[in-house]
Amino acid sequence: MTTTPAIQVAGLTKAYGDHEVLRGVDFDVARGSIFALLGSNGAGKTTAVRILATLLPADGGTALVDGADVGAEASRVRESISLTGQFAAVDEILTGRENLVLVAQLRHQADPRGIATDLLARFSLTDAGDRRVATYSGGMRRRLDIAMSLIGDPSVIFLDEPTTGLDPQARLEVWRAVKELAAAGTTVLLTTQHLDEAEHLADRIAILHDGRIVVNGTLAELKALLPPATVEYVEKQPTLEEIFLAVVGDETAATTGPAPTATNS
Ligand SMILES: Nc1ncnc2c1ncn2[C@@H]1O[C@H](COP(=O)(O)OP(=O)(O)O)[C@@H](O)[C@H]1O
Ligand SMILES: [Mg+2]
Repeated sequence: MTTTPAIQVAGLTKAYGDHEVLRGVDFDVARGSIFALLGSNGAGKTTAVRILATLLPADGGTALVDGADVGAEASRVRESISLTGQFAAVDEILTGRENLVLVAQLRHQADPRGIATDLLARFSLTDAGDRRVATYSGGMRRRLDIAMSLIGDPSVIFLDEPTTGLDPQARLEVWRAVKELAAAGTTVLLTTQHLDEAEHLADRIAILHDGRIVVNGTLAELKALLPPATVEYVEKQPTLEEIFLAVVGDETAATTGPAPTATNS
């Protein structure tokens, strides 16, 4: 078993003009784990993911995916990865099955129809497989999108805000699909603005703020950063939201005082 992390990022910098978005980002992602890059809108999550996916050059620092440098060895990196963006890349006119077969053919897979059947089953889309994607719900489309990104067995998958715009039920469906990915050995780096999403899905959570990773740890480690709040009868663990606000500062709610506890009434 190799212990080299699937993703290694050190000192990564990126500016758009004089707007420094990434100002020295460092993190590793262990193989087969789910890593959440958590940050507010505009924090630089998509910028980081696009650099890791070889779509955007960094200004400085290093980023390795499967040991290959995203700048110098981009084609090697592309063999290991797939990227699912906030926009679903599926073709509405085609059925779910046809979309999968098409992508499998484009990626020169040996058995496109077999792959499509397997992926439909894996993402609970068998019944809908022969319907046009235009009839799918948001959650079904996103699941199909993730299924398509798995064709060719990438070892690392990037999911940029995989549940943004989905209703709660669809979010749960996508969460289940993401967990199954990691259980099958795929390394998942996902970005999210949703604290509860990171909390439910990720093995490790890194908070990107002001161009840097300000916290990186397991949920338990993050919770240990704050003493558990004790109330009269029950011990209340700090939520990830409270940790996030404590770490990055609560600019929007600075006047509302500490996060509410069970004793507030
Ligand atoms: N191509 C670009 N040119 C100029 N500014 C950009 C570009 N892409 C993103 N930005 C800016 O960089 C910051 C980070 O953007 P982004 O990486 O998309 O953040 P996030 O995905 O966390 O919302 C934002 O302020 C955004 O407006
Ligand atoms: Mg983004």
